This record gives sequence, structure tokens and C-alpha cells, in this order.
Amino acid sequence: MLQNKTVLLTGVSSGIGKCLLLTLQKQGCILHGIVKNEERKLSLQEELKNILSPELLPSVTLHACDLRNPSAIETLSREFHKTHIVPDILILNAGVGYYGPHEELSVKDISELTAVNFTAPLLLTNLFLRDLKNRQGHLLFLSSVTAAKTNNTHGCAYGATKAGVSNFAKSLFEEVRKYGVRVTVLAPDMTQTELYRNASFCAAEDTDAALTPEEVAEYALFALTTRDGLNLTELTMQPQRHRLERK
Ligand SMILES: NC(=O)c1ccc[n+]([C@@H]2O[C@H](COP(=O)([O-])OP(=O)(O)OC[C@H]3O[C@@H](n4cnc5c(N)ncnc54)[C@H](OP(=O)(O)O)[C@@H]3O)[C@@H](O)[C@H]2O)c1
Repeated sequence: MLQNKTVLLTGVSSGIGKCLLLTLQKQGCILHGIVKNEERKLSLQEELKNILSPELLPSVTLHACDLRNPSAIETLSREFHKTHIVPDILILNAGVGYYGPHEELSVKDISELTAVNFTAPLLLTNLFLRDLKNRQGHLLFLSSVTAAKTNNTHGCAYGATKAGVSNFAKSLFEEVRKYGVRVTVLAPDMTQTELYRNASFCAAEDTDAALTPEEVAEYALFALTTRDGLNLTELTMQPQRHRLERK
């Protein structure tokens, strides 16, 4: 179903994005993965050489683009259009997490949260939406369970960026559904990734209290492979139990 579909996917250097890259590669997609910088690009390229067979390596192209920087995003889109790379699927996955009492976050932390989690998905959508309309494509936003909550203590800013992106995506679906474009919001709870590198807590090791990135990738694939005419608008994934691990 996804064979030869061109996918533009952000945040592929780790966690959910890396699992999604490998999941979609197995489906025969032509993948364009966005990483933050050249250093990340080189290290992931080396890693992929050990994971993928040589004949499959060309199906994955990595592009360096720091999503904190709107002009870098515009340059990326210009390069895609100049080289006639047209996505069928756009996956807005890259994200950062900064947590703690709101007054303890720095201006830099808050600016990065809003730039990467909120502004970048809106800009990428803006720059590729004509292509997605032409292709009757699919946008998939990696939001979070925090988007629907109003008690994100010590995660007010993170939750607000995710609420913004979820709200944007749901309205966008209403705007583009008549063009055959699908829009899905995936809202996972605590997942075992490096997202909590700046936090005093992390996801539990017990899979009863945390999701795995492979599981999130599996349900993203489920959303991307529904029959024509059926849009999975929002998918929330939660572990059975709620438990954080203190570091
Ligand atoms: N883990 C969870 O519990 C959880 C729960 C709900 C939703 N989510 C969401 O899932 C998505 C993926 O996160 P994850 O859990 O897989 O965490 P992750 O392993 O930290 O992955 C985040 C990805 O975003 C990339 N990224 C961050 N800043 C960037 C920038 N300025 N430019 C380009 N790329 C940038 C990272 O690249 P670098 O490593 O190079 O910085 C990394 O590849 C995020 O949107 C997150 O909010 C995660």
C-alpha cells in the first residue's frame, strides 16, 4: 500500500522517528529523513549502513535542517522543489522536551519548545501543502496525551505546544478533507525514548507503564494504511498504568 510513496519525516536520528524510518523503509517507501545537523546526518548514515542491506540504502536520504530556524526550513523546501522531490506523506515528528516549574525554564528552552514542537510543523505544512493536495497525501503529527490535558504540572509549556499542534491539525483536516488529503494526530503517552534527557524523570522500563517507540511506529503505520476514504483523525495511546521513573 505504501510501496514507492515518498515520505518526508522529521526527527529521524532517535526514538520514535528512527523506528518510523525503519518501519516505513520495510514498506517500500522512498524516505527523506530530516536530522538537526551534518554531524547527526553522518552518524545516522553510518548506522544505517549496518542496519540496511546495500541495495536498500538508496531508499533513505538524509537532510540536515535545524528546525529551530525558519529560514533553514524554507531553504529545505526550496531544495525539495528544485529537485522535484514531492512528498505523498509528511510526518511531523521532531520534538523537544523541557520540564520543571515554569519560572525555572530558560528563555532559550521556551523558544526551542515553541520553535521545534509548534512553529516548525506549521511551517513545513505550509510549504508542502500544495504538493500534498496534488498527491492526495497524508500528514501525520506526533502530538502527545498532554495536548488534551489542563493539568500538565511542570510541563505547561510542552503541553501547550502539543495542544497547539493538535488543534492546528484537526482544523487543517476540516480545511483539506475535500481535496482528499488525510490528517492524523498521534497522541502517545510516556514512551521509552531520549525525550526526557533534560528532565528529572523518564519513562518507566516496565512496558505496563510506558510505550515503546516501536509500538508508536506500528500505530503510525496503521493510521497511514487505512483504506482510501477513511481518515484516522486522532489516535491516543496510553500504557495501562501511570508511573514515572525518577532519575
Ligand atoms: N517519548 C515520549 O514519551 C513522547 C510522548 C508523546 C509524544 N512524544 C513526541 O514524539 C516525538 C518524537 O520524540 P521521541 O520521544 O522520539 O524523542 P527523541 O528520541 O528525543 O526524538 C526527537 C527527535 O527530534 C529531533 N529534533 C529535536 N530538535 C530538533 C531540531 N532543532 N532540528 C531538527 N530535529 C530536531 C531530535 O534530533 P536530535 O537528537 O539531533 O536533537 C530527535 O531525532 C516528539 O514530537 C515528542 O514530543 C514523545
